[in-house]
Amino acid sequence: MEQNTRYHIRRMKDGDIPQIVDIDRDAFPTQWPHPTPNSFRMELRNKLAHYFVIYRDNEDGNTADQPRPGGIKRVTSFLRHLLNHDRFFGTGPVVASREYLVGVVGIWMMVDEAHVTTIAVKSSHRRQGLGEWLLIVIIDLAMALHAHSVTLEVRVSNTVPQLLYEKYGFTIAGTRIKYYQDNHEDALIMSTDKLASPAFQSRFQQLKEEHRKRWSQCYTLS
Ligand SMILES: CC(C)(COP(=O)(O)OP(=O)(O)OC[C@H]1O[C@@H](n2cnc3c(N)ncnc32)[C@H](O)[C@@H]1OP(=O)(O)O)[C@@H](O)C(=O)NCCC(=O)NCCS
Repeated sequence: MEQNTRYHIRRMKDGDIPQIVDIDRDAFPTQWPHPTPNSFRMELRNKLAHYFVIYRDNEDGNTADQPRPGGIKRVTSFLRHLLNHDRFFGTGPVVASREYLVGVVGIWMMVDEAHVTTIAVKSSHRRQGLGEWLLIVIIDLAMALHAHSVTLEVRVSNTVPQLLYEKYGFTIAGTRIKYYQDNHEDALIMSTDKLASPAFQSRFQQLKEEHRKRWSQCYTLS
């Protein structure tokens, strides 16, 4: 990890979508079909959906890396223009985010349940507490929106995120047989206990505090 790294979290916006598509493909290389830029645009307009991104900057606040550095500049800028021009929703040109994005998380608020639609950290930035930070943020949001619980699906073979979810008290609530279209793998349904229960609250607040203490020594979270 570089010294003086600062990570920030904010809601996702249209200009993030090209980088989010890259993060998604990096995180789920075998997935089929892949979400398209339009699927993320629709999510931004979906009133049930809440998406957040983590981005990083260097010490003086400038962007540490330029996303998608130009190879064949004229072609890429034209493609980027097409990609960023939101002609399907008629909102006009979208300015590409300058920040360097390293993670994304999304939930849908379904009545009183918060359903995690995606959570991913760039492979180059894993094991630095960023995935955990994304999970903390959406659990906090779910509580603020008075969700009863948080739930998600995860591939049976995808054991790393299962360890993260277990750390936060998710347990297996069921299985969706042949849920994934690409290889017909089963999904585990994992769910928290009642968010408002004293047991969940005390565990969550403790984990959140431990996360803050542990990682604030390495980088700035804001
Ligand atoms: C799951 C994912 C988001 C975790 O992100 P991350 O930033 O690397 O995770 P963190 O550093 O915050 O780790 C938090 C906890 O997750 C678990 N964990 C994460 N990576 C792990 C690994 N490689 N081995 C074992 N446990 C791991 C641990 O419990 C860890 O807590 P600890 O540091 O106290 O051991 C990341 O691996 C990812 O993007 N994977 C690909 C996408 C994906 O599968 N998403 C889930 C879809 S359901």
